[in-house]
Amino acid sequence: VKKIDVVRAILGERVHWAPKKSGAQAFAPTNIALCKYWGKRDQELNLPINSSLSVSLAGKGTVTALNVIADTQDLVSFNGKPVEPGLKFSRRIVEFLDLFRGLPAVRFHVDSSANIPLAAGLASSASGFAALVLALDQLYGWQLSQSELSILARLGSGSACRSLWNGFVEWQVGTQADGMDSRGSRLPEVWPEFCVGLLLLNTAEKALSSREAMERTKATSALYSLWPAKVSADLPVIKEAIVARDFPLLGKTAESNALTMHAMMLSAWPPISYFLPETIAAMQKIWQLRQDGLPLYFTQDAGPNLKLLFLQKDSDSVRSCFTNLEVLQPFVA
Ligand code: DP6
Repeated sequence: VKKIDVVRAILGERVHWAPKKSGAQAFAPTNIALCKYWGKRDQELNLPINSSLSVSLAGKGTVTALNVIADTQDLVSFNGKPVEPGLKFSRRIVEFLDLFRGLPAVRFHVDSSANIPLAAGLASSASGFAALVLALDQLYGWQLSQSELSILARLGSGSACRSLWNGFVEWQVGTQADGMDSRGSRLPEVWPEFCVGLLLLNTAEKALSSREAMERTKATSALYSLWPAKVSADLPVIKEAIVARDFPLLGKTAESNALTMHAMMLSAWPPISYFLPETIAAMQKIWQLRQDGLPLYFTQDAGPNLKLLFLQKDSDSVRSCFTNLEVLQPFVA
C-alpha cells in the first residue's frame, strides 16, 4: 500500500479539490513519548511494531502557515528563514505536499515556526507534520475528523499522529495493512500537577535521525525481539498509573521504557548512542536525587537532552538542582 492510496481512501473525490482559500494557518503541540514508538512494520506508511503513549506539551509546538503561490516550486521556510530546497527538511515537506496538490496542481509557501528550543530535539517532525495536515484541512476545507488527520500526519512522521491532541495520547498499533486502524486517540485523564522539564545539555544537531536509528536497531540488534514484550508490559502499567495518579509508577515505567530503547540502540551495529557525558552525568544525578527521596524521573529520545518528569509540588526542588531547565505543565493552559 502506498501513501497516495491512503490519502485517496481518506479524501475520496476531495483529493481533486482546489484550495477554498489562499492561505491557512494551524498550530500543533509537540509530544513526548512515555512508552516509545521504536521500529516499523511498514516504512512507507510509518506503521509501527508497537503501540505507544505520549503527553503533548500544550502551548509548545509548531505553527505552520500555508499559502498558495504562483510558482513552479514550493517554498519552505522555518522560523522566518528560507530553507534550501535540497535539504532533507524541505524535501520531506515537499514530498508530503505532493500527496495533496489538488487539481490543477497547487504550489505552496510553507512557513513553520517552533516556539520550543530546536536544540532540545523537540521542534521535531511530530508537531510539524501535525500542524501541516491541520493547515491543509483548513485550506482545502476537507473537514476531516481528528482520527483521519492523525492517519495523514503519520504518513509524514510516525510520532506526528499523536500531536493532534493535547494531554495523554495513545497511538494504537493497528493490524490493517493500510494502517486505517493505526492512529492516535486522546485519553480522558487530566493531570494538572504533572510537569515535564526540558533539560538542555547539548545544542548540536543530532547526527543520526530517529528514522535511521530505529531501522538499524530493528535490523541489527539482538535485543529488538524483546521490545514488543517490553511495550506490552509497560503500556498498560502507564495507563493504570495515569488513571490512579500513581506518579512513581508512571515515572519508573516511562524511564525504564526509554532506557530499554537506548539499550537496544547500543546493541545495534554499527552501535548507536545518543548519550553524551553530560547525559550520563544528569542521569546519575537524577538517580541520586531519587535515592535521597525526590520523586524525579526522566525520559530520553533520539538526542542527548533529557526530559525530566516530576510533580508540581517538587518543581522548586527540581529547579534548584538543574540550571537550564525549562519547566512545562502540559495540563495547565
Ligand atoms: C524516539 O516519529 O521521528 O521520539 O516515523 O521515521 O518519522 P519517523 O520517526 P519519528 O520517531 C520518534 C521516535 C522517538 C519515540 C517516540 O516519539 O515515540
